[in-house]
Amino acid sequence: ISLKPYNTFGVDINAKYFIEVQTIEELKDAVNYSKDHALQVLFLGGGSNILFTKDFDGLAIKLSLKGIDEKDINENEILVTAKAGENWHEFVMYTLKKNYGGLENLSLIPGNVGTSPMQNIGAYGTEIKDIFISCTVLDLTDLELKTFSLEQCHFGYRDSIFKQEGKGRHVILEVSFKLTKKDHHIKTEYGAIKTELENSAITHPTIQDVSKAVINIRQSKLPDPKETGNAGSFFKNPTIPLAQFEDLKLRFENIPGYPNGDVVKVPAGWLIEQCGWKGKQIGNVASHKLQALVIVNMTGNATGKEIFDFSTAIISSVQEKFGIELEREVNII
Ligand code: EPU
Repeated sequence: ISLKPYNTFGVDINAKYFIEVQTIEELKDAVNYSKDHALQVLFLGGGSNILFTKDFDGLAIKLSLKGIDEKDINENEILVTAKAGENWHEFVMYTLKKNYGGLENLSLIPGNVGTSPMQNIGAYGTEIKDIFISCTVLDLTDLELKTFSLEQCHFGYRDSIFKQEGKGRHVILEVSFKLTKKDHHIKTEYGAIKTELENSAITHPTIQDVSKAVINIRQSKLPDPKETGNAGSFFKNPTIPLAQFEDLKLRFENIPGYPNGDVVKVPAGWLIEQCGWKGKQIGNVASHKLQALVIVNMTGNATGKEIFDFSTAIISSVQEKFGIELEREVNII
């Protein structure tokens, strides 16, 4: 079966076996089947952070568990739990409709709820760790359900235990967030949000206004995967030692950087643009013309290998010009 509909890059590769599961029982059955038949498994969420480079000779399991649950914590806070197969943006819109605050800055991020803790999704001044309470997972080693608290998830920038020690061991089934009902923490520090709100003459933004601003910003520079295949930022923003940053500043006086103690985070999009990649196309693949950090399947016919090779060429250029090694954010299969 072709996995083209299940990855936002729109890469056309095949999985030998495929099943979509809607319940924990179906999931367990599928996992048991794979064990009995010695098949490799691959779990598919929203497919928005994955690049297939070759056919998959095992069982692909699409996680489609659905449902949202709410429980009051106190007058001002509510615990909202969503199952893994809920679409992230639709879930965010659901919470905003109910006027629950906390997820507004994370509007329009592609993907599903179940993969949000994997890389601690973040944008415009918020990461899910800021509102995360816990997640329930299926442990593939013993097929038991387990709960991970905020501390146990070891969240970092685009990172969690599910990408490190726990890699490939847990399937996230549902995620619980603590949201506000009245006293919302409006976060507008991110430059682009401020500008967007000023342009709309909004002085006292609501959580819905912040969401709209984020949606406008994203739509203005990020390609819609429904139109042009992509997986958002292809690389992480690298962190380099302060001394290295100061050296670079002597040679590239405009280099942007966000210092944090004795390290500096440098926007990968800037580095890639400086190497001349922004908007550049090779064969079916290009760096997005409005955001160099996003690699796009320009023609819709790119193979995973082509996209991977394109990313390797970017890594080499940035290494050569700046001595910085970019790390891919997208999972390569
Ligand atoms: N920049 C350029 N040229 C470019 C792109 C960016 O010079 O082509 C420079 C500019 O100086 C700009 C700075 O990079 O001010 C930052 O750009 P932007 O605000 O677009 O954010 P980003 O660092 O490129 C990160 C996340 C995005 C997230 C935005 C907003 C990573 C890897 N990416 O991008 O996340 O939406 O911040 O918070 O951290 C994703 O992970 O898929 C994703 C889209």
